[in-house]
Amino acid sequence: GDNLLRLAQRHDIPLEGACEGVTACSTCHVVLTDDFFDQLEDDGDHADDREEDMLDQAFGLEPTSRLGCQLR
Ligand code: FES
Repeated sequence: GDNLLRLAQRHDIPLEGACEGVTACSTCHVVLTDDFFDQLEDDGDHADDREEDMLDQAFGLEPTSRLGCQLR
């Protein structure tokens, strides 16, 4: 399936993905709504350690931050 990064790019929504989705950058950082974030958690979709490490370097980190390329 397509991740959120690919979806955004296909629909001309500006979201960068410098590493092309291999969790080696934080340019695809997105801040989710509480509802969407909670839904992902309910689905068991949590950021893994690598994603957390990259998120720590993201500008404007929020509790509901994720990397767009890691969302499916
Ligand atoms: Fe690099 Fe998502 S595009 S971590």
